[in-house]
Amino acid sequence: MNHKNAPIGVFDSGVGGLTVAREIMRQIPNEKIVYFGDTARVPYGSKSKETVTRYSRQIVRFLQTQQVKAIVVACNTASAYALDEIEKEVDIPMIGVVKPGAKVAAETTVNGKIGVIGTEGTIGSNIYPRYIKEINPKVSVVGKACPLFTPLVEEGLLQDPVTDEIAKRYLAELIDIGIDTLILGCTHYPLIRSTLGRIVGEKVNLVNPAYETARELKELLVAENMLNDEETKLGDNKYRFFVSDGAEKFKHFANSIIKYGILSAKTIHIEEYEAQV
Ligand code: DGL
Repeated sequence: MNHKNAPIGVFDSGVGGLTVAREIMRQIPNEKIVYFGDTARVPYGSKSKETVTRYSRQIVRFLQTQQVKAIVVACNTASAYALDEIEKEVDIPMIGVVKPGAKVAAETTVNGKIGVIGTEGTIGSNIYPRYIKEINPKVSVVGKACPLFTPLVEEGLLQDPVTDEIAKRYLAELIDIGIDTLILGCTHYPLIRSTLGRIVGEKVNLVNPAYETARELKELLVAENMLNDEETKLGDNKYRFFVSDGAEKFKHFANSIIKYGILSAKTIHIEEYEAQV
C-alpha cells in the first residue's frame, strides 16, 4: 500500500479519544482512521506509569499491524506516561495531546492563571505545568485530578445532575483562584464541556486539546508529504473502530457523537499484541 494512503492510528483508554478522532475527521476529512479504545482496561488515569506504558505498547503494536502511517495518542494519561518512551521505538510519527493543549493555554491566558483538570496520572505527572512554563514561565498553573469524570462519561451521563454535582465540587477551588483558562486535560472531558462551561462561567476559556492536536497532525502530514492523495469515501472501511470489550456499547456511544455514517466496532484481544522492546 502506498504509505500516503495508509490510515492514521488513534487510541485512548475508551471513548474519550473519539473527541480527537472527530476533530481529525473535521480537519482532514480525506484521511482514513483506525481507532482503538481500550474499553476492557479503562480507566488508565488511576494506573501506574508502567502499566499504562505496557498497555500503550500493545496498542501501538496492534496499530502497526493495521499499517498505520502515524499514531495519535488521544489520551492525556498515555501521552503523559508513555509517549516519550514509545515514540523512540517506532519508525512512524507519533503525536500526543498534551503539548498542543499546553501551547494553546499558554497563549490564551490573560491573567496568567491557568487551571488544568485531568486524571490522577496526568495531574500527578505535572506534565502540563512543565510544558506551559517552558513557553511562559510567568503563568501559574493549578492542576486538579477529577477521577470520577471518566466513569461518568463512559456511562453516558453527559447531562446529568450527578455529573453537575461532582463537577461543582471538583471545580470549586479553581474558580476560587480566579483562573481565566481551563484545560480539559483528559480526552473524555470535552464530552461534558457544556456542564463544565456552565459551572466555571463564560469568562473562563475552555481549552480542548483535540482541536490543536488535529491541527498539529495536519501540519505534520503536510510537512512530511504524507497527506492522503487518493479520494476516500465514507463506507469503504474509511473509519474502523476496535475495542478490547463491549463493542456494541462502544458503537452506540460512538454513533451518538460522531456523525459520519454508521460505525461498527470489533473486539480484539489486545493482550496478544505484547510488544517486544
Ligand atoms: N481519556 C483519557 C485521558 O485523556 C483517560 C481517561 C482514563 O482512562 O482514566 O487521560
